[in-house]
Amino acid sequence: MYRYYVKSQKITMELPFSESYKIKMVEPIRKSTKEERRRWIKEAGYNMFNLKSEHVFIDLLTDSGTGAMSDRQWAAMMMGDESYAGATSFYNLKRTVKKLLGFEYMLPTHQGRAAENVLFSALISEGDVIPGNTHFDTTKGHIEFRKATAIDCTIDEAFDTTVQHPFKGNIDLNKLESVYLKYPKAHIPAIIVTVTCNSAGGQPVSMENLREVYELSKKYGIRVIFDSARFAENAYFIKTREEGYAHKSIKEIVAKMFTYADGMTMSSKKDAIVNMGGFIALREEALYKKAAQFNIIFEGYITYGGMSGRDMNALAQGLDEGTEFDYLETRIKQVAYLGQKLKEYGVPVQEPFGGHAIFVDAKRFLPHLPEGQFVAQTLAVELYLEAGVRSVEIGTLLADRDPITRENRYPKLELLRLAIPRRVYTNNHMDVIAAALKNVYDRREEIKSGYKIIDEAPILRHFTVQLAPSHEETIGLLGP
Ligand code: F0G
Repeated sequence: MYRYYVKSQKITMELPFSESYKIKMVEPIRKSTKEERRRWIKEAGYNMFNLKSEHVFIDLLTDSGTGAMSDRQWAAMMMGDESYAGATSFYNLKRTVKKLLGFEYMLPTHQGRAAENVLFSALISEGDVIPGNTHFDTTKGHIEFRKATAIDCTIDEAFDTTVQHPFKGNIDLNKLESVYLKYPKAHIPAIIVTVTCNSAGGQPVSMENLREVYELSKKYGIRVIFDSARFAENAYFIKTREEGYAHKSIKEIVAKMFTYADGMTMSSKKDAIVNMGGFIALREEALYKKAAQFNIIFEGYITYGGMSGRDMNALAQGLDEGTEFDYLETRIKQVAYLGQKLKEYGVPVQEPFGGHAIFVDAKRFLPHLPEGQFVAQTLAVELYLEAGVRSVEIGTLLADRDPITRENRYPKLELLRLAIPRRVYTNNHMDVIAAALKNVYDRREEIKSGYKIIDEAPILRHFTVQLAPSHEETIGLLGP
């Protein structure tokens, strides 16, 4: 008996974690030399968006539209119905949205910001205020474009990358209630809850907080809209971190989450794992009818709204796959794998790790750089020079200028985002990224200055901004 026990202990090895898919098609990527990268980034005005993708080895600019579709999604595309009106693909998508998310009304749009444009055209007027948990930049852009104001009510813990809190995307109910008390109901057309909260580091919102926000909003008669780009990753965190959900399926958790929303906007390019697409889903018929008019003007007829039939089919399939636990576990564990490596190397990152990305705390990485020199952007340039890894600044550049004073807005967090595309890279790629960032970290004191703006657009400037090293000495950095 004893010998058998020992024997069985010896032979039983816990199986390591592995991906929940195998690879059917590959796309070659190429390395470059440091000399080439110095030239290319200079030509790009030190703006990651201006780089050609062929000049990038590992592309972590975004997890948006960069995922790999499954064989089933590609198969669904072949069944696309390209009829202008009443396509079966539209009804397929509508049925899926109803089944998974519970909304009666759905309008397709070509991507997330298009959903914002259409819905906000129907909802938001000049002078309105829209509270939320750190609105995403396009969301804020669409609010400010309408001369309305986005008010950030995220919990304070989100703004300290060293604080451990399982739901850093949560809304502070006191902050929210003070908005509801300060402004007349007629000027608060909605609260927008972003799940997961991208700008705070891909941080989730708990089910408890979603419920409390909904109940408080109903008390004041305010509509709750979810910015749902990463709703499935949010559900994964509820399942793995919040008491009472461990035995629920992701689909059950998702269904419950959306009972606390009156409507949603969706960038399908994230958790629905398609390269392009979006939609609006609503419960209220009157709001749907109003939004439908704007959809026709801006996007297309209500049964396609900027999407082809095949894309709506792939999206419906992607929504189903994206809400499966095995897929989400593979995805989120890969992000955590990178986070853990960076942590081991001493690189300061937002913790707990986010769902779609690792966020490096640039102020803690380069504490000696002045805030006006775009610290996270400086780090992005260094990481690109080091290994051809493209990341993105979530900091002062992205925060834009105050629409009234035109002064730079300095956000509480200055972050470098390493966004991981879905089902695209392997953990070997994660190792390369971590090693590259470690090398930059080890030589951080040699990075003596950052960048200054040469040219910028009045809104959403980070996409097209042109930068130059802020001091002549910076050019030395680009030397051998
Ligand atoms: N909401 C959130 C939370 C987002 O992260 C994005 C896009 C949008 C709305 C807009 O959707 O791109 O389809 O128009 N985020 C991308 C990113 C661009 O890189 O995080 P879109």
